[in-house]
Amino acid sequence: MERILNKEAEEAVAAKAAQKAQQEVVKAQIAEAVEAARAEERAKVVSAASGAAESAEPAADAGSTAAQGSSVASSIDWSAVPSTDLTLFYPGQASFEWVQNGKSHGGARPLTKGGDSCSTCHAAELETIGNKIVAGGELEPTPIPGKRGTIDATVQAAHDDNNLYVKIQWADAGHNPAPFVDGGKMDPDNQVKVAMMITGTGIELGEQVGCWSSCHADNTYMPFDPGAESIAANQDVATRLDAKSTISKYLSESRTEVEIKGRKNKALGGWDKLKSADEVSKLLEDGSYLDLLRVYADGTSSNGYLLEKRVVNGGEMSAEASLSAGTWTVVFSRPLNSGTPGDVALEPGKTYTVGFAIHDDYAAARFHHVTLNTSMALDDGGAQINVIKQ
Ligand code: HEC
Repeated sequence: MERILNKEAEEAVAAKAAQKAQQEVVKAQIAEAVEAARAEERAKVVSAASGAAESAEPAADAGSTAAQGSSVASSIDWSAVPSTDLTLFYPGQASFEWVQNGKSHGGARPLTKGGDSCSTCHAAELETIGNKIVAGGELEPTPIPGKRGTIDATVQAAHDDNNLYVKIQWADAGHNPAPFVDGGKMDPDNQVKVAMMITGTGIELGEQVGCWSSCHADNTYMPFDPGAESIAANQDVATRLDAKSTISKYLSESRTEVEIKGRKNKALGGWDKLKSADEVSKLLEDGSYLDLLRVYADGTSSNGYLLEKRVVNGGEMSAEASLSAGTWTVVFSRPLNSGTPGDVALEPGKTYTVGFAIHDDYAAARFHHVTLNTSMALDDGGAQINVIKQ
């Protein structure tokens, strides 16, 4: 009897040690991925800044592409612009593959076969979903204690003959250290970051899923992150993706194949199934990309798109960001039609699917809050975001 008990105790200790080792592995992976994401962010800001410097006065502050003071939208009277409430929720590791697989996601079939949008089913329950995921579980193996499950934001949008202006505001929630990062801040340089994505044309499920078309199970911090070794072992693809330790977001259209079901233990995603450079150029030409506008806590910004990877295209953009009395305010503008490849041209009479992401509290990569598919149109009260003329 004693021997059996001893054996059970030993097994329990061994199981605990194995579990601990597994947690350490996940922790190390995250730390590595965080570092890579931060390096990427820094590189993007620098390259965006140097792109802007070419067309303007030499920038005194090399890190800044923002216009001075409150000049970004000085012609706009925001008090006369309607405001839309947006709930951004914490998605954890719910990838584009995850949402399309009936084994993981109850809505998979109506989404892929029935034409439903994410918002069709979830618009009213984002608080429940966000609070559940952020607490940790299947979709979040490394929770951050105290992090909120949702962010309530308001967005206003206006235009004149040439430019789009967007203002987004939300409440700051103080600091909750990420336990898996030294110092608790994944991106210590940026207390917040805001992204707006505009869905281009010819993207499968694009209008129904918003940002999800670019969020894959093998991206940075996601469950099928291939790791630096596998990436290095595929030099051709790694070079074309500028990938060292992790894979940035991409569209399925840029791949010959993307694994959704994971049958026979296949890894989900398709990072290495890259189409030829000619095919990718054709997609860009045809408008098949997610336009990506990004603003950092200090008001610097970068304009780019997601296609085979994240690309900064240097399209015109200016921004400002501030925290006042506990409220963040981010304003940015860009031409309605910049003519730059990778910038979706905004025209009257068309409705666009957009998505917003907020990286709150020094977060990086997937540790953000996001909207579901959201509609936006110029001077059209039927869209969730009505961009009014001023
Ligand atoms: C036809 C309805 C339907 C559609 C469309 C749909 N879902 Fe779901 N979703 C469900 C159901 C059902 C569940 C499982 C039950 C639940 O938790 O509500 C679920 C669960 C989820 C969860 C997990 C919540 C949890 O409890 O952990 C997430 C995240 C999610 N969906 C995201 C999405 C996203 C993103 C889209 C669009 C790409 C989407 N869903 C489209 C019905 C849908």
